[in-house]
Amino acid sequence: MGEQIQPVRGMNDVLPEAISAWQHFESCTRELLTDYGYEEIRVPLVERTELFQRAIGEHTDVVGKEMYTFTDRGGDSLTLRPEATAGIVRALISNGMLRGQRHRLWCLGPMFRHEAPQAGRYRQFWQVDVEAVGCAGPDVDAELIAMSARLWRRLGIEGLTLQLNSLGTPESRREYRTRLVEYLRAHESQLDDDSRRRLVGNPLRVLDSKNPDMQELIRGAPQLTEYLDAESRAHFETLCDMLRAVGVPYEINPRLVRGLDYYNRTVFEWVTAASGAQNAVCSGGRYDGLIAQLGGDATPAVGFAMGVERLVALLVAAGRTPPVAHPDVYVVVGGPQAVTPALALIERLRSEHPAVRFELNIGGGKLNAQFRRADRSGAVLALIIGEDEIARGVVGLKPLRDTSGQIECPIAQLPAGLDAALAAARAAVAMP
Ligand code: HAM
Repeated sequence: MGEQIQPVRGMNDVLPEAISAWQHFESCTRELLTDYGYEEIRVPLVERTELFQRAIGEHTDVVGKEMYTFTDRGGDSLTLRPEATAGIVRALISNGMLRGQRHRLWCLGPMFRHEAPQAGRYRQFWQVDVEAVGCAGPDVDAELIAMSARLWRRLGIEGLTLQLNSLGTPESRREYRTRLVEYLRAHESQLDDDSRRRLVGNPLRVLDSKNPDMQELIRGAPQLTEYLDAESRAHFETLCDMLRAVGVPYEINPRLVRGLDYYNRTVFEWVTAASGAQNAVCSGGRYDGLIAQLGGDATPAVGFAMGVERLVALLVAAGRTPPVAHPDVYVVVGGPQAVTPALALIERLRSEHPAVRFELNIGGGKLNAQFRRADRSGAVLALIIGEDEIARGVVGLKPLRDTSGQIECPIAQLPAGLDAALAAARAAVAMP
């Protein structure tokens, strides 16, 4: 026997038993996004490394230490996408879709980051990414947030809090950054190693530190909101007014800075009350400068991404997953000579009866074993077709969830006979 091949750490299989929760999340999300006028876009899993370096920023954790980067056979440096925004912006530019046009787009798929795996944090994880391109006003930010709040309601997920902040313009941020670095340098002896490293490349991220020993220092730090320019302040205040008008509660978190460099003005995160570092289920913000920075016509934009594993886990914890789909009819096949006629008959019935789900017994087996499988399948009715039945031109029909016995139905009277038996079997299940 060959040695087993281990799965890649931090990359998960989604097994059939879990798939109904995923599909439920995906279909609710797809329907909601369509209602709001969003169109699906699919972009490659792999892009040129330079795209992420320029979009996300060299000094971020994502680009600095988490990317899956490789040289392909042609000698190009490529990277498995760590997020979708950069790729979508690249697609808009490559396909000439900017030029004053507006787009509401969404994308579902796996992302890759070489992080330390733990519950809720994986190296391959799925996002639903949503982007509104071409509008600068806070109404778009507010609508995106209201849409996400509606999704939590539709899914039945409770206990999420919206955290909100404004990063201002790159200029106001630079000004703030200078003040923050002055403050942190003055207290350098209190910084942990991680923060010392961030102080050089990405000082705003020091504010994100989860180290309890750093919290007092962080509380005393100057706040970004004090340095906002007048226009960003007005944008932020209008957004807050709009959120109140649509009834979405929020908390202003002046330390919310986000881990990707392309943001300006609005940033937000939906977080679960559950403690632990992996509590963000949906995060995003405005990135008005990114498109021009990547060579496109200057175009404002805003968006967010949801972590699918984290939201599916909340759905499951809340017991809000749909019931598993069962077959209606399990087809028991009696003897090798019956296999081909059974297959042909069931194919015919599937065509005549697309609303009925048939599960054909595969791989033979004694009748008892087949009936046990029929029971486990969740079907309400067994259709029995054996060599003897074929010789007599009939099939057996046996309700599986009540004690009424097996009846026979001439093949010539199918599918009407099947309908009647199925209706009776279903009625028996529905009775208290
Ligand atoms: P992000 O905050 O890096 O933003 O990721 C968005 C969401 O993806 C997080 O809130 C979290 O739910 C999930 N997530 C991130 N990393 C992991 C991981 N290692 N394992 C499991 N889930 C994870 C972005 O990616 C931006 N592109 C969002 C955006 C779109 N901003 C504007 N438009």
